[in-house]
Amino acid sequence: PPSIVVLSPNLTTCHRSLSDADVPVYCCPPKRESEEPFIDFQFPDTSIPVRVRKPAHLADADYIAKYNKAIAIMKSLPYSDPRSWLRQANMHCIYCTGAYNQQHSNSLLKIHRSWMFFPWHRMMIYFHERILGSLIGDENFALPFWNWDAPEGMFIPDMYTNGSFVDTQRDSSHLPPQVADINYDYVESGLGTEDQIATNVAFMYNQMVSGAKKTELFMGCSYKAGEDGFCDGPGTIELAPHNALHTWVGSNLNPERENLGAFYSAARDPVFYAHHSNIDRLWEAWKGLRNYKPEIVDPEWLDSYFFFHNEKSQLVRIKIRDVLDITKLRYTYEKVENVWLNARP
Ligand code: C2O
Repeated sequence: PPSIVVLSPNLTTCHRSLSDADVPVYCCPPKRESEEPFIDFQFPDTSIPVRVRKPAHLADADYIAKYNKAIAIMKSLPYSDPRSWLRQANMHCIYCTGAYNQQHSNSLLKIHRSWMFFPWHRMMIYFHERILGSLIGDENFALPFWNWDAPEGMFIPDMYTNGSFVDTQRDSSHLPPQVADINYDYVESGLGTEDQIATNVAFMYNQMVSGAKKTELFMGCSYKAGEDGFCDGPGTIELAPHNALHTWVGSNLNPERENLGAFYSAARDPVFYAHHSNIDRLWEAWKGLRNYKPEIVDPEWLDSYFFFHNEKSQLVRIKIRDVLDITKLRYTYEKVENVWLNARP
């Protein structure tokens, strides 16, 4: 078969990039990753129990203490360590602001606003979760998910207001118990709690069901290698609640609503990982609604690959096809009721 060119980064190219407001940022590792050997991704050992991601608003004290400690250790690691907090956060900056050129062209690689959105973020939090677990010697550690699509979860989970989970760069008027506007667009909705919740649930139905019947509407449009490969068409969930909640949480006093509100800084806020855990869960939920039929079979998507460091600090090359079955990745989501499923207008 003719060999195809897939989207992938050229690791020798990490360079200064631009924030959403075109301010130069630099997120590259201290030493070029291209000088490191890499390994190909392997599925985790099936002898290790499946990690179960649970809703953050129901987290118990033991879990919070454990996770708090893992973050504290991660934050204490030096920047030279790819497992360190800022290096982890900068992975998001690198891939989301275009710090790498593509492997086969000089175009910048930026994974948002396309069909790269779900799989790339799945990879990022998969490695992050395993690193956290290994730092506290817990092979069972699982990230929580911010269950903002359920009425009880539509607030910044309380755990994020204490200890290692605090980020001072958040909009102080949106801290709990303020109910979230999951379709926030820089303007306060002015709705009371009950009305906001009802609006959110109806909106979820649209983003997950009525507005997401075609694959491209949910997954985002194609992003292929080369100058003209980028379509710039985000899926329903990526636009909102995803983007909307990034903006809603980030500080209104910062120019780009850092931290959560800007690509380059978003993953510095611990709530980022719970936000993306829920996004990832909703991808599974959407797949479930269509009986797990493969969402995209185009090899240019399936074979696209990216690089992350694992819990042993090894550089790993991972393809999209590697992350389409979470059973093989050995994690799952605790079952919660998706109330929006019954919110047909
Ligand atoms: Cu890469 Cu939530 O964004």
